[in-house]
Amino acid sequence: MTQNGKQQLTRRRFGQMAVSLGGSAALPGWSRSFALQAQDVAPKVLVGGANSLRAHAEARGLLYGVAVDPALLDVEGLASGETKDRYTLLVLTQADILVAENAMKWASLRPTADKFDFSLADRFMTFAGQTGKRVRGHNLCWHEALPPWFKDVANKDNARQMLEAHIRTVAGRYRGQIHSWDVVNEAVNPADDRLDGLRKSPWLELIGPDYLELAFKVTAEADPQAKLVYNEFGIELDTPEQTVKRGQVLLLVRRLKARGIPIHAVGVQSHLQADGPQPGPGLVKFVQEIARLGLAVYITEMDVNTRNVPGGPDEQDTAVSKVYTDYLGQMLAQPNVPVLLNWGITGATSWLNATNATGNQRKDGSPQRPLPFDDKLKPTPVFLALRAALDAAQPAAAPAAVPASVAPNPAADQPTLPPGPPLAVPTPNVPPQPTPQRLYEPFPVQGSPIPPPSPSGAAY
Ligand code: XIL
Repeated sequence: MTQNGKQQLTRRRFGQMAVSLGGSAALPGWSRSFALQAQDVAPKVLVGGANSLRAHAEARGLLYGVAVDPALLDVEGLASGETKDRYTLLVLTQADILVAENAMKWASLRPTADKFDFSLADRFMTFAGQTGKRVRGHNLCWHEALPPWFKDVANKDNARQMLEAHIRTVAGRYRGQIHSWDVVNEAVNPADDRLDGLRKSPWLELIGPDYLELAFKVTAEADPQAKLVYNEFGIELDTPEQTVKRGQVLLLVRRLKARGIPIHAVGVQSHLQADGPQPGPGLVKFVQEIARLGLAVYITEMDVNTRNVPGGPDEQDTAVSKVYTDYLGQMLAQPNVPVLLNWGITGATSWLNATNATGNQRKDGSPQRPLPFDDKLKPTPVFLALRAALDAAQPAAAPAAVPASVAPNPAADQPTLPPGPPLAVPTPNVPPQPTPQRLYEPFPVQGSPIPPPSPSGAAY
């Protein structure tokens, strides 16, 4: 999918939409005055300050955040203390951690083979710096969002050097400012039918399977403080296809660990559907298996697709709320899941409602309601379901009297799962496949061959 129609939305348009920012006590002084103005809107649900998603997450030692489009953020208004932009205020009040939805992808940063354009990415970092938000970097290596020139320029002789130079330049530019980098995105694709499960991406075809090792090693050198994440979609369900893919991701992570590659977390994107099969015990076992490898799991891009939900907004909100409750109930009960981001914050900005999101349009033409705020920037029942799920989460750290903009809390990321019996990766009913364990002896797919990390040895 290309950079989308969302970018045609202006901040002015968002400014015309309503948001209710009650309970602003925990906001910094300059944003408190904006929140008080916004209270004129007669809020039904108070969402600011102590009522915000980030405050409820912090109380459990969790980090909550959202993906943003930096072009829509009123960076200038914030700097002059005058913003009334409601999208900006929502991001400000609700999130502790931000990710740029598109601005740090190759296609955004690389107008030509020999030039970088950091204007949007820098704008995003400026906003995060102004507001004390932490930042996820997304992403350094992906088969999508490659610039148009890439296929003409990249070849087997230069691809390794290109990937390395890109990572050194981008991760180096923001060194010390990034909470976590999605170093490699979506590298596994069972449909490509390789023994190791790897996707036949341009990077694989040009560099070979160790492009992953290269990407992680170079990122660690370029930004030693950032947590390094492998990010994947389509591994949440217990369907045969997703079960196989999840097993292949586990295999990949074991391979990286076995080779001493720095990796700290697996990102489970969590683009869920309101209808059809839902995540279940297979994913929980996966999260626990990842914990035994000493890694965290981040929920990196959660939203719930309501394309097929019959009825109006209420029916959509009921279905979506249930998915949030059930999914987060399972995932946030795991002590190695300290980070949760939504892919956007409102229906107005969701990629599922973008004009180019073909296949995602609802039959009745109404917008999808995948996120805690709707297309009018109003909180929905999903906001309440999400906030209740945060409240019910296993505390990742002792609830601390932290200010709203908390300093990094390494303890919040600490996996505490004790060593346990080997967890089997379920074998679904799929055509026979070569046994992948033979590729990576002595780290078979099934079982827990790698000892649990010592408390001090855990990397996050
Ligand atoms: C999506 C953006 O939301 C869209 O605006 C863009 O057109 C395509 O990419 N998994 C990812 C994200 O890792 O980068 C994708 O973001 C959504 C799926």
